[in-house]
Amino acid sequence: MKIAVLGAGHVGPVVARLALAAGFPVAIAGSGDPARIEMITEFLAPGAVASSAADAVADAGLVVLAIPWHRFGTLEPGLFDGKLVVDAMNQWPPAGAPLGTSEEVAARLAGARVVKSLNHVAYQDMEPPDGRAVGLAGDDPAAVDVVASFLERIGFDPVRVGTLAAGRLLEPGSPVFGVAAGRPEFEKFAKELS
Ligand SMILES: NC(=O)c1ccc[n+]([C@@H]2O[C@H](COP(=O)([O-])OP(=O)(O)OC[C@H]3O[C@@H](n4cnc5c(N)ncnc54)[C@H](OP(=O)(O)O)[C@@H]3O)[C@@H](O)[C@H]2O)c1
Repeated sequence: MKIAVLGAGHVGPVVARLALAAGFPVAIAGSGDPARIEMITEFLAPGAVASSAADAVADAGLVVLAIPWHRFGTLEPGLFDGKLVVDAMNQWPPAGAPLGTSEEVAARLAGARVVKSLNHVAYQDMEPPDGRAVGLAGDDPAAVDVVASFLERIGFDPVRVGTLAAGRLLEPGSPVFGVAAGRPEFEKFAKELS
């Protein structure tokens, strides 16, 4: 399964490195010409292919959105039709929006299957993953299974917390956001939320 990582800032290259180390082919993209991220890619995620977002997504089995929330509107929704998308974004600072970011992502990328994950772990805590618990949330159980297996392969302990709406548990302000919570905490808080 080929992985497309959109975002070549803090989070994107870490996810790319973990995926490469687990044996996945990876394409990584910033917002513009791939030539602009060739050097970053070479140093931070050697082995990944610096691509345009459109090329990275075109033949990917799994797409990780690791771009700033305020840039989400710049993505062309049609690119993601039929794609499995992991939303690792956060609205920052939290704005008390009525929907979680991933619910908004799923609404805008209507042809994609969206799973929320990785957003609650600071990029510097993602490596080494060391079996760290990461929550994942989604409305499509089969998509959640694929993402759980991907997360496991790259070294995390994936914990299902429920639907995309329940994915608000993973957002800024939640007791598991940005802390090294274990599986029991995720399961406890997810139960309280449901
Ligand atoms: N920092 C963390 O510890 C952390 C942890 C978990 C989740 N997150 C979330 O992950 C997301 C990324 O955070 P970050 O800290 O990695 O941000 P960042 O360092 O600012 O990097 C953002 C990257 O997104 C790229 N980008 C912007 N618009 C794009 C587009 N339309 N298509 C493809 N790439 C695009 C930027 O490319 P250009 O330079 O070309 O614009 C840049 O490479 C945010 O939503 C954040 O809340 C962050």
